[in-house]
Amino acid sequence: MSGAGALLLKIDEHRVAAWTAALADALPDMPIRIWPDIEDPNEIRYALLWKPSATLFEGLESLEVIFSVGAGFDHLLACPTLPAGIPVVRMVEPELTAGMAEYVVFNVLRYHRRMDQYQHFQRQGVWQVLDQIPAHDTTVGIMGLGVMGVASARVLACMNYRLLGWSRTRKTIPGLQSFVGTEELGQFLAQTRILVILLPLSRDTRKLIDRDVLRQLPRGAFLINAGRGELVNQPDLIEALDSGQIAGAALDVFDDEPLPSEHRFWRHPTVALTPHIASLTNPPTAVEFVAENIERHRAGHPLRYVVDFERGY
Ligand code: NAP
Ligand code: GLV
Repeated sequence: MSGAGALLLKIDEHRVAAWTAALADALPDMPIRIWPDIEDPNEIRYALLWKPSATLFEGLESLEVIFSVGAGFDHLLACPTLPAGIPVVRMVEPELTAGMAEYVVFNVLRYHRRMDQYQHFQRQGVWQVLDQIPAHDTTVGIMGLGVMGVASARVLACMNYRLLGWSRTRKTIPGLQSFVGTEELGQFLAQTRILVILLPLSRDTRKLIDRDVLRQLPRGAFLINAGRGELVNQPDLIEALDSGQIAGAALDVFDDEPLPSEHRFWRHPTVALTPHIASLTNPPTAVEFVAENIERHRAGHPLRYVVDFERGY
């Protein structure tokens, strides 16, 4: 067994070359194994994974740290062989964060500047001008004020939107009114015109956005979900879209991915969907984060961004 151990990479096939090149740059002395070619399982000390297969962890007795390729780690929790007691580190890297802020701003603008309606007018051959509402009269409510939510809020604040945020603990963020917990959820929802969902999936947040939550938004509100599909009760959202309670939804994440071809979201007139691309982890900057954490681990320092299983994220 090599003294430093090896790193096991499991990633979508079309991204393997970019990741192995980046890892070779950032960790030149680290042997890299590409799943399923593990070679000697006893060598594997670190694993950098996206959607591991059910049996991936079997026999990895020397594993010391598990890195998620994504900010979300629900794909790891879903793996039945995930070993207990080994730290799981979620991905925090600048390009993943920047990409999410871009996605959120793009979709806030879609609804604030009524691009969804202009697209509809174009298809009908209609030349029609709608009122332009100032950004400061448009309230954007962000659920989840972690790395992704705060980065998005910062850009939206520069654009003068009226900002609300909802999280588990109180925040002090310039230009944003902070709401906390189930007690303040109603107040937050009642004022939100464009709801941005950037929560992690946990036992507390699964299907949190249901009929009851959706009906607390003002009629004709918009929804942007870039967190996880299972945060939202899909049938309840379809009902709200059909009734006009929700005037439009930008959806990037779904219960089942790829979204089945017969799913109503594909052809729903007020849904704008993307195939889980709100933001993609950028290998060169991501491996810097991984390499820094490996260095910390080897030096006996605490790892950064370890998942708190008790808290659920
Ligand atoms: P994070 O830094 O862990 O932030 C999570 C936020 O959610 C925190 O503000 C936390 O509140 C809040 N929260 C968690 N549970 C809550 C609850 N029960 N009630 C109220 N607030 C709660 O996570 P992140 O890095 O921002 O990422 C968020 C999620 O975005 C990821 O888990 C992933 O699912 C998703 N994502 C999607 C894409 C994509 O391409 N679609 C890309 C990247 C990430 P506190 O601050 O009070 O702890
Ligand atoms: C993508 O969905 C991520 O969690 O980074």
